[in-house]
This record gives sequence, C-alpha cells and structure tokens, in this order.
Amino acid sequence: MLEGKRVLLVIGGGIAAYKCLELIRLIKKQGGAVRVILTKAGSEFVTPLSLASLSGDKVYEDLFSLTDETAMGHIELSRSADLVVVAPATADLMAKAANGLANDLASTTLLATDKAVLMVPAMNVRMWQHPATQRNHRRLLEDGVCFVGPDDGAMACGEFGPGRMAEPAAVLAAIVHHFLPADRPLAGQHVLITSGPTHEPLDPVRYIANRSSGKQGHAIARAAAVAGARVTLISGPVTVPDPQGVEVVHVETARQMLDAVEQALPADVAIFCAAVADWRVVNAGQEKIKKTVDGVPPLALVENPDILATVSQKKNGRPGLVIGFAAETETVIEHAKAKLARKGCDWIIANDVSPATGIMGGDFNSVHLVRASGTGSSPGVSEIESWPRMDKDAVARALVAEIVKTLDREGWV
Ligand SMILES: Cc1cc2nc3c(=O)[nH]c(=O)nc-3n(C[C@H](O)[C@H](O)[C@H](O)COP(=O)(O)O)c2cc1C
Repeated sequence: MLEGKRVLLVIGGGIAAYKCLELIRLIKKQGGAVRVILTKAGSEFVTPLSLASLSGDKVYEDLFSLTDETAMGHIELSRSADLVVVAPATADLMAKAANGLANDLASTTLLATDKAVLMVPAMNVRMWQHPATQRNHRRLLEDGVCFVGPDDGAMACGEFGPGRMAEPAAVLAAIVHHFLPADRPLAGQHVLITSGPTHEPLDPVRYIANRSSGKQGHAIARAAAVAGARVTLISGPVTVPDPQGVEVVHVETARQMLDAVEQALPADVAIFCAAVADWRVVNAGQEKIKKTVDGVPPLALVENPDILATVSQKKNGRPGLVIGFAAETETVIEHAKAKLARKGCDWIIANDVSPATGIMGGDFNSVHLVRASGTGSSPGVSEIESWPRMDKDAVARALVAEIVKTLDREGWV
C-alpha cells in the first residue's frame, strides 16, 4: 500500500521512541521507504544503529554536519519525502514547530518542509493537558498539521490518561490513509466481512474453538476500506486490533455471527472468512460442569447454522458477489469445488491449513481462487487460479483488486 512512497520520520526524545522501530518495520513491509532524523534527546532512547539497520538508510542527527550538508542538506532532506511523520512528537518538538523555531536539524526540517506533516504526540498526561501544549496543538492544527493520538491509558511514568503514543499499527493506518488514491474504486459499495473463529460454550467458563487468528479477515477489511468501501466486519473473538475506518461488530458464537450478518445486510459484496464452528454443544451448562467420580460428562453436538449457504441461497437481498473461504488439510481444490457447488456462492478462496503450512495463525497465506461460471448463480466451476505465497495483507489487496475488476466488468462501479 506504500509502494514508492518516502516517509521522513523525525524521532523525538520520549520514552515511546522504541515504538518507531516497529513503525519503520511496518512502513517497509508495505513497500514504503523511511529516512530518519533523530534528535539529540531521541538518541537517548533509541540508537542510530538500530534505526539505520531497520530503515536501511543513514540516520541524520546534526544540523551542522559538513558531510551531511554536501550529500543531503537539511533543505533537501525536508523536501525529499512524500510525508513527514514526527513520532514521538514530544511537548518540546510540538512547541518548536508551533512557534517556528529552527535550532536543530529536526525543527529546521519541519520549518523548511513543503510536505504534509503527521504528528504522533507522546508525553505525560499533565504535559499534554498543560495550556501551553494545548495551545501548540491548536496552532499546529490551524497550520494544517495532522495528528494521530495521543491514546488514553497507563503511562510509563505510572499515571493514567491521554498522552500515550498511538500504536504503530494505528500510525501506519494514518500514513496509508494519507496516501489513499483520490479515486477510491470501491466508493459507494458496502462490503460485509466475517473474520476469526467462533467460540461455542460448554458451560460459562469452557468453550470449543479453533485456531483462526482473524489476521486474514481483518486484512481484507482493511484493504476494502482503503479502496473506499463502507466495511462492516463481524469478528469472532480475536487478539488482532480492530482495523481503522471499519465498523466492527464483535460476536462469540456462530448463531450470534449469523444474526450480526443478517443485521448488516444488504451488502454489495460479502466475504465469509471466519472459521465458524460446524457444531455446538446441545444444552451448554448454565453452571460450570463439575468433575465427578462418575467419569467424563457426555457431550452431544448439534449442527450450527451455515452462514455462507444461508446468504448465498437468499432469494431476496443476496449480495451481488458472495465469497467463501475453505480451510482444508487435504485435496484442497477438490474440496473447494465441492463447497462452491454445495453452498451456491460465487467464489471460494481455498487454502491448505495443515499445521506444516503455518497458515493458521501465521502471517502468510497461499490460496487458490475458485470461481463459479457467471457471478451469482451457476455452480459450474469455470476457473481456478493459484496465487503465490504472500503475506496476508498482500492476499487481501489482491482479492480486493479482483473484486474491483469483477464489479467493473459487471458494470457495478
Ligand atoms: C526518561 C525521560 C522520558 C521522557 N519522556 C518524554 C515524553 O514521553 N514526552 C515528552 O514530551 N518529553 C519527554 N521527556 C522530556 C524530553 O526528552 C525533553 O523535553 C527533550 O528536550 C525533548 O527533546 P526533543 O525536542 O528532541 O524531543 C522525557 C525525558 C526523560 C529524561
């Protein structure tokens, strides 16, 4: 999503500077380039060596450096980027930028730049709430500076409140958002996505679950939102964060997931990526099942509703494009073809989730796209495409690109 984009990252002297190491990794993972300016105070918290190793570029620290000035002067540095990100934006850096001070490389660069500036404040809650910082914040907003955070929460200083630096994933989302193309190909489309596992209770403290992490479904939600869609993400219990710019409905069981899907319809496109439990326990206990001398309690299972089939076979209000996922451990394509015919959906994304692949819960995926001939009806399989192994964000972007192509061809957008 950041292919060819250059980010100039100004790192100030705050305890949260360590988060920039992860931020650089995330930007590079999206194809972006990062050049770092490190303030003197910043170098007390992170080392130039770590930053240079992760960014793959020299770290700039001094305003008065003959070698830097001849190779990449401070003015050129300020202009060479597509976006300037200040993280952590300390109270001091905000004060300097709000008042036009230019007494070190970071502040001089911020004054000299003609590019958009995104600040990620991080400081003690009282420093953030001080009238001087609030005044600087307002002034910077008036000057057109964008902000991510600060977040509320426990701070390194032991206090609680606004001042925590936004998490690297949230900063990345803001950076990606800044670079969104003006023409967003899914603008005006409602995309419904399910993600993660379901938990089926045995009693109030135990449940049946599966190993789905939600990483792939959440990545698809992110990619669809970036492409301009209105996205509803119905998520089972996961530890991955909610994607930005997406309406998220949290559920636990398969039946709750179906209810949430019904509530979210109508949709133009529905993508069922969640690993929904096929069965649940009949009469799950209201109290914790006790261990007794009588041995193991008998557990009777009953089938859960089939969300993909229910939506695919709707007579009224069926989404124009219904996509299911098939997680298999053997004869992946054969099972996917059979599933496509049985459920009546338009596409199946099939993947091999046997433990050796590391796909379930991992960051990579290797999928086959199996399409029915003719969108929305025929169960005849017309095409199978096998995509190379990619990270889950790349699979998500490729899937969204396929959807855009199809909707374009069918004249929907
Ligand atoms: C341990 C420690 C942690 C600090 N954390 C922060 C912080 O999170 N935010 C902040 O605004 N200042 C913080 N400061 C104060 C800044 O480091 C100080 O204001 C410095 O001059 C800022 O320099 P800069 O403009 O290069 O960011 C901290 C100082 C120390 C000693």
